[in-house]
Amino acid sequence: MTETASIASAIASEPSLEELWMPFTANRAFKRAPRMLASANGMYYTSVDGRQVLDGTAGLWCVNAGHCREPIVRAVQEAAATLDFAPGFQMGHPYSFALAERVAQMLPGDLDHVFFSNSGSEAVDSALKIALAYFQSKGEPQRTRFVGRLRGYHGVGFGGISVGGIEPNKRAYAAQLLPQVDHMPHTHDLARNAFSRGVPAHGAELADDLERIVRERGADTIAAVIVEPMAGSTGVLIPPKGYLERLRGICDRHGILLIFDEVITGFGRLGTPFAADYFGVVPDLMTVAKGLTNAAVPMGAVFVRHGIYDTVVNSAPTGIELFHGYTYSGHPLAAAAGLATLELYRTEGLFERAASLAPYWENALHSLRGLPHVIDIRNLGLVGGIELEPRAAAPGARGFDVFIQCFNRGALIRVTGDIIALSPPLIIEKRQIDELVGTLTDVIKSVS
Ligand SMILES: Cc1ncc(COP(=O)(O)O)c(C=O)c1O
Repeated sequence: MTETASIASAIASEPSLEELWMPFTANRAFKRAPRMLASANGMYYTSVDGRQVLDGTAGLWCVNAGHCREPIVRAVQEAAATLDFAPGFQMGHPYSFALAERVAQMLPGDLDHVFFSNSGSEAVDSALKIALAYFQSKGEPQRTRFVGRLRGYHGVGFGGISVGGIEPNKRAYAAQLLPQVDHMPHTHDLARNAFSRGVPAHGAELADDLERIVRERGADTIAAVIVEPMAGSTGVLIPPKGYLERLRGICDRHGILLIFDEVITGFGRLGTPFAADYFGVVPDLMTVAKGLTNAAVPMGAVFVRHGIYDTVVNSAPTGIELFHGYTYSGHPLAAAAGLATLELYRTEGLFERAASLAPYWENALHSLRGLPHVIDIRNLGLVGGIELEPRAAAPGARGFDVFIQCFNRGALIRVTGDIIALSPPLIIEKRQIDELVGTLTDVIKSVS
């Protein structure tokens, strides 16, 4: 048997489900009633039992160009056969330099340096470290505090869960979180903003909470503020009009770095290259992952403003300037996937496509208004959030039922508690938007 044949037979022979400890999954329930995907193409998955499943979530907010795209497949295959791996410490290879050069051309403002990681979580921890290293280099070593936001998700590293604002993600690890972190309030306000189309009107003043933290802690103790410009994982929380501008202004006034975590908003999700472009607010550091390689090979990155890179690199004595990096930083296969992905975004105009589909998407989503238990619908770019009223004493149960029924009827959605989050690949067609919304309509009607 050839090696590929033996991999194929290992997959085909219905492997045991016991050994794998699945991430962010109810392992026992899943293993009793598994939901397995076998292949993917374009807008659709195929389940192991041969059903077509429309991908309403671009995998996990990451397959922005659609699945198994031929140019990306080819680029990864070629890189695997040309340079499977090369060390990135004190050595280099053209793939990672080429991707850094290419992606830097897309960045707003003077964000023009790129540090590669393998995931969004690693990108976030790298950005936090770069912020600390910057202030050390700049002669402000007392700036060591971070500010995050409630309901923020910044991955699962100790840095990310500390600045993040999701209680269950911290509970078991609370004894060892980063010690100097404050949180601003989140911006979700159903009372004032329910059923907003696009950016909601109310809540810019919530950014002023940063002034409170500055007063309490002292401006010169705070290194950086990190926010998702649009919070995705906790249920599509769209920033109120003027909020991000206000945050930028307060950071500037007090010499605090602003980090945008664009792991899900990066690479066209809002119809612009980055949320920074959509809102016209440029951060000092930006974290990305997911859409950078269309998720074909894992990769994350931190984008860094010119002055931050220069300060760290030029103020170091000779030798290594930043004591940080990953074995797989800038891995050739990931970088090749990234190069092919960016080219696909460009040649197919996928960001512009997302922008031009956004009004159709908005109208389709808001047609769900009035269905049972729907208490909010929100949208931005090709993102949608539909909030359902939780069942008394069983928060999350209604959302999970909707998720299961949608999957059974051929649509993959994502739920966070009772909030449905939608983020299809940017290649979605209008008829597929109708298909997705049609399935949701039937399911929401049928779930009590
Ligand atoms: C905003 C944000 N930051 C960080 C992460 C973590 O990325 P990863 O799962 O690649 O570590 C995510 C993942 O969804 C995210 O949405």
